[in-house]
Amino acid sequence: MKILSVVGARPQFVKVAPIDEELKKRGHEHIIVHTGQHYDYELSKAFFEQLSIPEPDYNLEVGSGTHAHQTGMMLTSLGDTIAEEKPDLVLIYGDTNSTLAGALAAVKLLIPSGHIEAGYRSFDMTMPEEINRIVADKICQLHFAPTETAVKNLKNEGINTDGIFLSGDIMAETLLKNLDKAKNSDVLEKLNLKPESYIVMTLHRQENTDDPRRLKRIFTGLASTPLPIIFPCHPRTEKRLSDFKTLEKAHYDPEKLIIIKPLPYLDFIKLEMESFFVITDSGGVQEESLVLGKPCVTLRYNTERVETIEAGINELAGADPQLISEALNRAYKKAEKKIESKIPLHWDTQVSKRIVDTIENKTDISESLKIPDSF
Ligand code: UD1
Ligand code: UDP
Repeated sequence: MKILSVVGARPQFVKVAPIDEELKKRGHEHIIVHTGQHYDYELSKAFFEQLSIPEPDYNLEVGSGTHAHQTGMMLTSLGDTIAEEKPDLVLIYGDTNSTLAGALAAVKLLIPSGHIEAGYRSFDMTMPEEINRIVADKICQLHFAPTETAVKNLKNEGINTDGIFLSGDIMAETLLKNLDKAKNSDVLEKLNLKPESYIVMTLHRQENTDDPRRLKRIFTGLASTPLPIIFPCHPRTEKRLSDFKTLEKAHYDPEKLIIIKPLPYLDFIKLEMESFFVITDSGGVQEESLVLGKPCVTLRYNTERVETIEAGINELAGADPQLISEALNRAYKKAEKKIESKIPLHWDTQVSKRIVDTIENKTDISESLKIPDSF
């Protein structure tokens, strides 16, 4: 078969790696289209190198912009690329603007698409990611759900159950397959850190970064940290921090908050593995904290990764200084106890295999997009 994957942002490179490997192993043709949403070396090429993903067949170089501009540019270019390649199936990943554009471009050409990480819902339509997930799931034909809750969400929205598959979490597969390589990273030596002597943090979601008052409240809450926070900072956040002069206003202590460039995947995983606990607003990092058994404080008021909360490893602290401070204390205590948490079904190294098995067996994928002969 000829399968075309649309990727564009950091987490999508992590997700496409095992799919590419499995498709190639079985002799399928796999075309990788990079929309160009992320373009800095640290957010893009570093991942292709470390995860041995082949160079993308296309880079559409859309770059940054408003949601409308970026998604529109992607849709225009993807429409042309997909029309030229005529794949049997388009694969889309996660919940970024590249996901939405990929799903739209495919369905407009009546080419079937499959969503890897279908069915996650935060039920918060102010998040750009929630809009992307809902629209993508509505218009694609195959839904590869990471969890049983995601399956339920899809069924509740009336999605055709013939196209819903509990495949497990693709991000967990990449993590589990790369643990040994990550262990060899020398990132701790480079940063002069001792295992379990620090907290690792990521923070980049629009709702947290783009409102100066909210960003300041977060950093005020973080000031009560029990350990130094190592913060590989996304360029979006870096720009906002300096635009709003947030760190000065929050009287931040550079001994307690160490800001560094975004890390390549294996170094970041090593930093997570050896941390005392994790603070984040990322979707993928919440999942990784569960797999690695690291307590997590999530700087959001909701999460689509509900299993991480149910497992008792993750806690929502929003952007409230008091809640953040209390959650940091609880995470510290949990980390001291080293609690065992329950890993959801199929979060293992067979996720890509389940997905490709389904694609191979689903010979009627294109039926739902066929225009009946009588028309
Ligand atoms: C996007 C996703 C988000 C995901 C994140 C992963 C959407 C709506 N959001 O957010 O769900 O969690 O990727 O990291 O798709 N920038 C650079 N260099 C780059 C890329 C971006 O400097 O290589 C800066 C630009 O100023 C840009 C800003 O970051 O305007 C935001 O980038 P964008 O791709 O729009 O969204 P992310 O915040 O990265
Ligand atoms: N990640 C990384 N380096 C960093 C920060 C994150 O390699 O400096 C990885 C992380 O391990 C996870 C993925 O990026 O696999 C998560 O992506 P991100 O948080 O950007 O997006 P989200 O999951 O929120 O959509």
